[in-house]
Amino acid sequence: MKRVAVLTSGGDAPGMNAAIRAVVRSAIYEGMEVYGVYRGFEGLMTGQYERLSPGSVADIIHRGGTILHTSRSKDFMQMQGRVRAREHMARLSIDCLVIIGGNGSLRGGYELASESDAIQVIGIPATIDNDVVYTRSIGFDTAVNTVLSAINNIRDTATSHGRVFIIEVMGRRCGEIALAAGVGGGAESILIPEIEPDLNQVIEKIKSGNERGKLHSIIIVAEGVYPVMTLKDEIMHATGRDTRVSILGHVQRGGTPTAVDRILASYMGKAAIDAIVRGKSNVMVAGQDDRCYTIPLGEVINGHRTPELGMFEIARVLST
Ligand code: F6P
Repeated sequence: MKRVAVLTSGGDAPGMNAAIRAVVRSAIYEGMEVYGVYRGFEGLMTGQYERLSPGSVADIIHRGGTILHTSRSKDFMQMQGRVRAREHMARLSIDCLVIIGGNGSLRGGYELASESDAIQVIGIPATIDNDVVYTRSIGFDTAVNTVLSAINNIRDTATSHGRVFIIEVMGRRCGEIALAAGVGGGAESILIPEIEPDLNQVIEKIKSGNERGKLHSIIIVAEGVYPVMTLKDEIMHATGRDTRVSILGHVQRGGTPTAVDRILASYMGKAAIDAIVRGKSNVMVAGQDDRCYTIPLGEVINGHRTPELGMFEIARVLST
């Protein structure tokens, strides 16, 4: 009988619980034994395991965060850390590991699987940043919807006061959230790391909108692209418009997962166990819903995702 361990790692993402549930129930359905590992790779190296039953994952599909908790582990990125993890897994005769997380976590899985054939490693992409190559990631849709609801609220007060608002969203080194929320939220300008910021264009948009009687302007900035307080000063100086900054931060990481994320997580969790049944290892489940397939983790960690820059053009045209 196969023994599967499941963990969540890196930044949490709404829908991780739905993925844990799908992994646990699909594995038990296939006659496997399942262990939950607490605090991601940290728990894998220190033996924080608990046997899970179908009931252990009841009533979690709608909850944000992760019932298994998570961590960003530096030690696991060292060979000694992975040796410790393998020793703990061997003690419990665990021969399969499902890792739910983003790029760093998938890289950890790749290293573990590459060093030994004793453990089948399957990754499931989960990160609000949506920066894993070749796939949509669990948590992205919820995060974008959270940002959209914040934009809606900010619009109300922005219109009332006739203000410019700069809204900073998450997405370390990746503009996916900013692009999607900018298009979906009708932003005037979107600044993302993949495109050199053009401040003149941002300022011209505000000025021309003002001339046409626009009451407010919304500028979405992906974190790290441009210091938002400096941007505020520059806009106020160049346009004379009253400008405010709102940094959304970790509010984007929590909350009830959307239908899209729950369904994606359910498909991916089952696909991970199907991959184990088929004898696969060192792969990630990719794709969407019933079009899930597996790709080698080696390709995932060496790939570089570029967002759909066509969306940038849509935003530019629609905000004129
Ligand atoms: O998980 C992704 C992410 O939310 C990024 O968007 C952000 O840059 C980072 O994590 C923040 O990490 P932490 O919660 O560790 O500060």
